[in-house]
Amino acid sequence: MALFQSSTSIIPDAPAVPRHIAIIMDGNGRWAKQRFLPRVAGHQRGVEALREVVKACRSLGVDYLTVFAFSSENWRRPADEVSFLMSLFLKILEREAANLHENNICLRIIGDRSRFGNELRQTMRKAEQLTADNNALTLTIAANYGGRWDVMHAVQAMLKDHPQLAQGFTEENLSPYLSMSDAPEPDLFIRTGGEQRISNFMLWQLAYTELYFTDVLWPEFGRKELEVAIASYQKRERRFGRTSEQLPGKQEKADA
Ligand code: IPE
Ligand code: IPE
Ligand code: MG
Repeated sequence: MALFQSSTSIIPDAPAVPRHIAIIMDGNGRWAKQRFLPRVAGHQRGVEALREVVKACRSLGVDYLTVFAFSSENWRRPADEVSFLMSLFLKILEREAANLHENNICLRIIGDRSRFGNELRQTMRKAEQLTADNNALTLTIAANYGGRWDVMHAVQAMLKDHPQLAQGFTEENLSPYLSMSDAPEPDLFIRTGGEQRISNFMLWQLAYTELYFTDVLWPEFGRKELEVAIASYQKRERRFGRTSEQLPGKQEKADA
């Protein structure tokens, strides 16, 4: 049974260390271009950055790290870049699954898998099964993922199970069918690479997430930059629709 932790239905805690960080890992191509390298060299370096950030999240006590690896719109890229990314994905899953397992990390993949080849789908399944019971950190990779796909897919799946809900349904009915319904919504969203947009990432789940944008290109992002992002998050006042005076700890001050 999925936990219903919607930021629009309840007032969630605002923990000092984000429980859930969601990252758009952007800027690989530009990093490579600056060095007169092919774009794919940037993707390769991007994997190293991800490895460092996973390690940092685990040691900082973050429970969930969700990263955007391939969007439903990235199929529009040149065919050779797309096929490089697919083989890189396969290679990494094969190479890293055991390592993640040793580090007690649970790996999950979200997105529409129907467009991936059989071998990749099978490797995804195996890596998920191997690491399913791990609990130091949940690393979720969004692959062929789109926020709109997520909502559409959830509505369809819900109606398949409960056709009568076509008459009307609540957020609570829909919530268990969305990707990552058993995780808290992201506390902190990070986008590297300078663009200030969501690019169809977790549209539903980011409702009350703190957004952080940095010009640092993803291959250069690491523990230090992550700590800067978390420090920025810690200075924010998360109100979830309330006034500042209503926040826990502020009430006495307001009454005084
Ligand atoms: C992000 O880096 C990785 C993927 C989308 C797979 P980009 O490849 O988008 O890098 P830029 O934005 O072109 O620099
Ligand atoms: C978003 O980056 C997707 C990933 C990082 C996987 P893009 O580079 O595809 O986003 P746009 O096209 O600049 O919005
Ligand atoms: Mg990009």
